[in-house]
Amino acid sequence: MDIQQACEAFRVLLEEQQQRIANADATKKDFSNMETIIVGLIDGDGIGPLIMAQAEQVLRTLLADELASGKIILKKIEGLTIENRLALGKSVPEDVLSAIKSCDVLLKGPTTTPMGGTMESANVTLRRELDLYANVRPVSIPEEGIDWIFYRENTEGEYVLGSRGVALPGMAVDFKVTTDFGTRRIAKAAFDYAKHNGKTRVSIVTKANIMKKTDGKFTEICHQVAEEYPGITADDWYIDIMTANLVNPAIRSGFQVVVLPNLYGDIITDEAAQLQGGVGSAGSANIGDRYAMFEAIHGSAPRMIAEGLQDYVNPTSILRATVMLLRHICRQDAAQRLEKALDSCTVNVTGDATGATCAEFMQELSRLV
Ligand code: IPM
Ligand code: MG
Repeated sequence: MDIQQACEAFRVLLEEQQQRIANADATKKDFSNMETIIVGLIDGDGIGPLIMAQAEQVLRTLLADELASGKIILKKIEGLTIENRLALGKSVPEDVLSAIKSCDVLLKGPTTTPMGGTMESANVTLRRELDLYANVRPVSIPEEGIDWIFYRENTEGEYVLGSRGVALPGMAVDFKVTTDFGTRRIAKAAFDYAKHNGKTRVSIVTKANIMKKTDGKFTEICHQVAEEYPGITADDWYIDIMTANLVNPAIRSGFQVVVLPNLYGDIITDEAAQLQGGVGSAGSANIGDRYAMFEAIHGSAPRMIAEGLQDYVNPTSILRATVMLLRHICRQDAAQRLEKALDSCTVNVTGDATGATCAEFMQELSRLV
């Protein structure tokens, strides 16, 4: 590629983003009075099918009546496997995407992303195609008074154009995009959560001293949105000191709701999950106005399969995501039953033979649900 071609590629990106802004649609789905709700189940790769089988079983128990009456439908989505995606050269094959779009909400196992090359992560494609703009990740450590919730912007930043950078002789350039509407909607989601859940503080995390245009805009718009929420304080932090704050016992329990751009959110939510008990312990929700997708925060762990550790997979993260899914579709009782069972289950799965097996964990959990 030469500079001329790179400029042309950049022009196309800018036009696409302008089109995305023009097409923005904020019609919200209301799950409290829907005739039928279709829940799509996507296995994913590696340990995905193993943990998804547990989540499906739990859903079948908790929603037995509504599944029998047809009010809720569980729909298996096939074909989102790394083998099929590589064979077709598509991060999400067309027919899989249309099956996904026929659902209302999705529960998804982890999918493998090839390193390098040009194939985009299936997660990133789905977040963009379904316009799942809020990546919501709660972390709680009750004994330390920690009750955090992260609102990570999920459709912009470095991610959305991350597979579309340009490589010229001796250099490479990637692009990052932040829009007014994209920032406003994630900020509103974070402040709305604070307002409806008795929270008084929303922390805005960027690197606006360095990423002046994009993060500068993010900060400015978050503060504009904050003005619509009297009684909620908005404070600013840079991502570097915020990662330190999360391991600073003197101040960390003071944080409540955190709103931040995509990449910083990706990084800091792994840190936060680790503090809670590992990335296997946290659930993740990707929420848009029309669709929502719930998933484990961890990856597909091909190493566990290669080493024959199938029996020791930890289903906690996907089950935490299942709690969030049930809440999202207004099934509060079922959500609470599962959450309580997870909170009180003492069987310790470590991911190898030093801990309990998945089956032992599930046996205890089923007794508690
Ligand atoms: C996550 C994951 C994804 C991300 C990967 C799988 C693309 O790390 O959900 O945090 O970076 O967003
Ligand atoms: Mg991540």
